Amino acid sequence: MTRAIALRAPAKLNLALAIVGERPDGYHELRSVFATIDLADDVRVATHRRLEVRNSIAMADDVAARAVRVIARACGRDPTAFVRIRKRIPIAAGMGGGSSDAAAVLRALAILWRVDVDLVALAAEVGSDVPFFASGARVALVLGRGEIVEPLPTPAEPLHVVVVRPTMRLSTAEVFAAHRAEDGGALAHVDAIADAFVRGRMTPDLLRTHAENDLLAAAARKCEAIASWRAAAAARGVPLALTGSGPTLFSVADDRADALRIARILRRAGLRARAHAVAL
Ligand code: C5P
Repeated sequence: MTRAIALRAPAKLNLALAIVGERPDGYHELRSVFATIDLADDVRVATHRRLEVRNSIAMADDVAARAVRVIARACGRDPTAFVRIRKRIPIAAGMGGGSSDAAAVLRALAILWRVDVDLVALAAEVGSDVPFFASGARVALVLGRGEIVEPLPTPAEPLHVVVVRPTMRLSTAEVFAAHRAEDGGALAHVDAIADAFVRGRMTPDLLRTHAENDLLAAAARKCEAIASWRAAAAARGVPLALTGSGPTLFSVADDRADALRIARILRRAGLRARAHAVAL
């Protein structure tokens, strides 16, 4: 009998991201506050005779198939499943779309196969951003390569942002490789944001002040459009921060009405901007 599970796979923003150092394995040591937003892919997973992944957008790196293989190996099962992904989250954009889909596959197969496994630990084998999504946290301090996830209290009221969608993709590996030691500075900002969530004192002003990302300079070196989008927005009084390795940018709004106002301003400047809620 075929059984199926349908899940929402949300996008994330890195509200702040610090590169703490380089690791012997070539990865970078991170310290970042991750938060989900109200933009999601739909992922449906069903039992099947073989492994088949159907994605509404062709993906070069099939991280969803990797997720099936990783959990199957851990459970001593055949890596078979039917996965259907309806993409809404832009690809290779710094919003963790592929990683979120992969985490949804892990969660769905754990339910379908009735196995009790440490999904966060398995997720780290699939990709660096996958443990956050597998944890189910809406906001978290993420450390190490991405495998250490410390959930943070969700704010009583959602925060509002405007997300500027890129018109191009950017390779995460290339941006990390372009990072230089002198690109630092975000560490104290990450801790200020994490601390505000812990104390239940997060405000739009505080978030705006501390939305710093150590990968911004590297991403801007790889993608010239980032500097021109930020300049166009700044000329209209809107500061834009980077999420992940980019090129997606975001601006913190005071409330939903302010987010709609900022999105209109940015669209008039030619940017693909849309209002979203954080930690939903
Ligand atoms: O783990 P994942 O495959 O998503 O990472 C993609 C690339 O990003 C890695 O090959 C690596 O170059 C870089 N990366 C890194 N440090 C991290 C996460 C990713 O250098 N913590």
